Amino acid sequence: SMQNTLRLWNCRKGILQCLIVMGFSWKAISGQIHYSIPEEMHKGSFVGNIAKDLGVDEKQLSNHGLRIISNVGKIHYFALNANNGHLQTSERIDREEICGRAEKCILKFQVLNEYKLKLYGIEVEIIDINDNAPQFPVGEQEVEISEMSASGFRVPLMEAHDLDLGINSIQGYQLTGSGHFFLDVQMGENGIQHPALLLKEPLDREEQSVYDLILTATDGGDPFRSGTAQIKVRVLDANDNAPIFNQPIYEVTVKENIPKGSTVATVSATDLDEGLNGEVKYSLRKVTQFHSPQFLLNSTTGEITLTGSLDYEISSLHEFEVEAKDGGGLSDRSKVIITITDLNDNAPELIVNYFTSSISESSPAGTVIAILNVQDQDSGVNGEVTCSVPNNLPFRLERSVDDFYSLVTAGTLDREHMPTFNITITGTDNGIPPLSTTTVIALQVLDTNDNPPVFEKTDYTFYLVENNHRGSLIFSLRANDPDWEENARITYSIIEEQTGNFPLSSYLSINSETGAVYALNSFDYEEIQEIRFLVKAQDGGSPPLSSNVSVTLFILDQNDNAPEILYPSPPTDGSTGIELAPRSSEPGYLITKVVAVDADSGQNAWLSYQLTKATEPGLFTLGLHTGEIRTSRFLLEKDAFKQSLVVLVKDNGQPPLSASVTVTVVLADNIPDTLIDLSNISVPVDHTSDLTFYLVVAVAFVSCLFLTFLLVLLAIRFHRWRKSQLWSITFGGAPVSQFVGIDGVRAFLQSYCHEVSLTTGSRKSQLNIPKANHTNIYTPQQNSENELPSVSSSFPCRDMRGW
Ligand SMILES: *[C@@H]1O[C@H](CO)[C@@H](O)[C@H](O)[C@H]1NC(C)=O
Ligand SMILES: *[C@@H]1O[C@H](CO)[C@@H](O)[C@H](O)[C@H]1NC(C)=O
Repeated sequence: SMQNTLRLWNCRKGILQCLIVMGFSWKAISGQIHYSIPEEMHKGSFVGNIAKDLGVDEKQLSNHGLRIISNVGKIHYFALNANNGHLQTSERIDREEICGRAEKCILKFQVLNEYKLKLYGIEVEIIDINDNAPQFPVGEQEVEISEMSASGFRVPLMEAHDLDLGINSIQGYQLTGSGHFFLDVQMGENGIQHPALLLKEPLDREEQSVYDLILTATDGGDPFRSGTAQIKVRVLDANDNAPIFNQPIYEVTVKENIPKGSTVATVSATDLDEGLNGEVKYSLRKVTQFHSPQFLLNSTTGEITLTGSLDYEISSLHEFEVEAKDGGGLSDRSKVIITITDLNDNAPELIVNYFTSSISESSPAGTVIAILNVQDQDSGVNGEVTCSVPNNLPFRLERSVDDFYSLVTAGTLDREHMPTFNITITGTDNGIPPLSTTTVIALQVLDTNDNPPVFEKTDYTFYLVENNHRGSLIFSLRANDPDWEENARITYSIIEEQTGNFPLSSYLSINSETGAVYALNSFDYEEIQEIRFLVKAQDGGSPPLSSNVSVTLFILDQNDNAPEILYPSPPTDGSTGIELAPRSSEPGYLITKVVAVDADSGQNAWLSYQLTKATEPGLFTLGLHTGEIRTSRFLLEKDAFKQSLVVLVKDNGQPPLSASVTVTVVLADNIPDTLIDLSNISVPVDHTSDLTFYLVVAVAFVSCLFLTFLLVLLAIRFHRWRKSQLWSITFGGAPVSQFVGIDGVRAFLQSYCHEVSLTTGSRKSQLNIPKANHTNIYTPQQNSENELPSVSSSFPCRDMRGW
């Protein structure tokens, strides 16, 4: 069939070639070339020199085109080396895989000489090597032997197989593991060996119930190979043992919070027997008063489960007995002790035994505020409690005896800073996680008078416009005291400083509660410009604390004074000042100066002068601020003898105040002129006042006349009396009628009246008689120098008005 396949393969290549090959193939198969190689050789191992064996020269090898013809789909175990004509393995060859248990294993194929178109048969025999070990069908065999079996009891064991042939296959068995057994091997047909186990002596299951033996099969290869299997011998029971607990006491520790239904412990008893004899049932027996029904014992598994809940604080230990009984009625007992461990399941408790709700801010550090007691139901570290207060509060806890703490002040308190405290005391235990409790102590800090009142400013300055209303509010002061109640109740007062004779209390009054300051009187700037004093603020504490502040009150000026004209003096009795201006004076000649003052200050006292009315406008000029009256041109003959000027003096206040004065200027070169002229013009101004004046003059004249008449009569009488007595004595030749003549009286009176007309202005009327070419500048200081003696002051008739 191999040839057929070859042919088919060739036919696929081409009909022509196929026919050629078929034509020679049968004839060519004549000689067989035989090689033999051991199995399991490496790939590429030398098998035989085909070229040489076919008689092909190595040099012509390429021409002959030798190649292996092999079946499609079959594994190519061999290959032809085209260079040297050697046959080589192209695969690892396993004899057992290709030929199984066949005695001979031969691989056949053909080599084609393409040059000669000749096929050669090649046989390669694969020689067995001991490459397979004996093998048991399963790794372990279980054998059961009753402990009642007698010695010589025989149990067949499984046989091993070896794929190799002959000596390379199984040659014998061995048994190891226990001296209680023999190995018996019997030779069967085909030389196959049958191993079996033989019992040497009876077994005791309670002593050893299982024996592990090793069965080894060995082949005869070189080196030999072997295979092993485990033989497990079980010894069957004979019902003769009681159950025994594996621990005399079961001690377990559980946490108190394990959930209901958890397994707390498992008891276990073993019964060496088997079957019913070894079947153990467990039960619970009450032995101590601590037993509680919250545990359940599973009778078959021995599991103890919790049916209730545990509480360390109620019972920390549970103890009971368990019993194990087998089907045969034998039993054993054991004890179970369940210890409950404490969990931190109770928070500490803080009990305040004493506390004070208020404390004075002056209390010293260490003053006790509260005493408290801390308790924790838990035990151990879970019951160890630490108490604390917040660090930011001025308090600390001091441990006194046992679990008692004192809460004390850690420093001085300041009510003004913190008037109340909520002191949170925390008790924390050392459990994991820790539990804590807090309690709050509310503390009020009581005030002590430890702060003086403080004014809002370090000093005060106020301004007041003069002519204020009496009782008006001038200003208000304010001081603050951070203390409480009485300690912060401030009383204000003005401190009288003995500066001069100025009685402050008659001007100012302070409202002691509000600090408002009122004016008791109207201030006059012209009198008082500023007042400095202290205001004291005192609190109501005991002892009181106080502070003072300096206050400056500036009085502001009002334009309340009109300018006052000092010169020329304003008319008081109808007269007027008279100034002389020589007719020869040049333009710019200073005639006089109007002098005025204003009691106010600043703008209110800034005066300006104005000429409001003049007999001859343009003849005189008036300095706006100097008040100087000067001529503005040469005086002319036609200019009136008497010039009248009205000067208005005005200050700069708002609104302005003013005063006016009339200046009379007489254009004359000397006083006699003036006097003559003046007699004509005397007192032309005020006719109403002149009328009285004339009446007075008339009365005076009549009185003088009468007096003179009396004197004359008296003289005549006296003369006649003397003439009668002493006729010889004469009066120096002058006739008497001449002495008291009417002419003399007239002259006297004329002179008198002239004087009166000059002095009617006022007591202070003066005559300025400027010398020619001399600029007479009037100033108040010069007044006494330039003033001519008042004519009137020495004249007796002056007083006649008073009659
Ligand atoms: C203290 O607690 C009270 C009540 O909870 C609260 O009204 C008060 O403001 C607290 N005081 C302070 C200083 O926190
Ligand atoms: C005003 O206060 C100062 C210090 O503040 C003090 O020295 C002075 O004596 C006080 N004056 C009066 C009059 O109380």
